[in-house]
Amino acid sequence: MQIVKTIEAVRTQVKAWKKQGLSVGLVPTMGFLHEGHKSLIDKAVAENDKVVVSDFVNPTQFAPNEDLESYPRDLEQDARLCEQAGAAILFCPEPSEMYTDRFCTFVDMQGLTEELCGKTRPIHFRGVCTVVSKLFHIVQPDRAYFGQKDAQQLAIIKQMVEDLNFDVQIVGCPIIREADGLAKSSRNTYLDTAQRQAALVLSQAVFMGQKMAENGETSADVIVAKMQKHIEEEPLAKIDYVKAVDAKTMQIVHEMKGTVLVAMAVYIGKTRLIDNFIYEEAK
Ligand code: PAJ
Repeated sequence: MQIVKTIEAVRTQVKAWKKQGLSVGLVPTMGFLHEGHKSLIDKAVAENDKVVVSDFVNPTQFAPNEDLESYPRDLEQDARLCEQAGAAILFCPEPSEMYTDRFCTFVDMQGLTEELCGKTRPIHFRGVCTVVSKLFHIVQPDRAYFGQKDAQQLAIIKQMVEDLNFDVQIVGCPIIREADGLAKSSRNTYLDTAQRQAALVLSQAVFMGQKMAENGETSADVIVAKMQKHIEEEPLAKIDYVKAVDAKTMQIVHEMKGTVLVAMAVYIGKTRLIDNFIYEEAK
């Protein structure tokens, strides 16, 4: 596996692959890789001749009050995981490689970015769309892999690809969880022992809501209220949001009709965690 720091070097290698008729998969990440990321890389390796994993803590998706500086980093461990998983390139540029001093072009989506995480993190998805667009232009992948864990991000990327005519297939991958249910996240490392225990309210609420929907509860409001109540019973948890939205448009729904995303963001101490489930109404 090559560890590559420049855009130029990625481009040269990808061009050579394309000349040989090889397919290319891209897995964009911010590093500190865990089993969740690995599931994306495994799928990409299974479905493409060559896989590029990008490892870049993207400054434009963090607001000044957020955890850009303290975001966990471990490039050596990431390289080991990628190599073992069969990636061909680990692309880990410096911020100055991705954003020159003159940088001033952003991809700014409306609508889908305004609900859920977009309310608390107003500039977040502009940064995500911008960096993912740049990665698509740099790597020119046939397929790109994103986790359902960040359900709003996945929906936004799919919309962006449609709107801006990127020639790439977006592959969504299921949420990978710890044995006790907690969704794997690089930010789980911020939690102390008591907080780690308290963080279980997120997945418990997800499983509870999912079960209610499967058992025939048709009111999204009833499901959301029950999930909220469960989270509120945990003293270390503070709800940012628990909401049911249309899985494509991210607009609030009150009924469990069509495809519904029930998503939440919850602070455990200072750490903001997210989780969700998708419910598909039986036809
Ligand atoms: P990051 O948080 O590192 O996540 C990279 C990818 O891994 C995302 O597509 C995310 O949904 C997926 N992922 C994370 N935890 C997962 C889990 N437990 N199960 C399944 N998939 C999981 O998301 C980002 O980075 C950034 O916003 C990025 C897209 C790289 C743009 O900077």
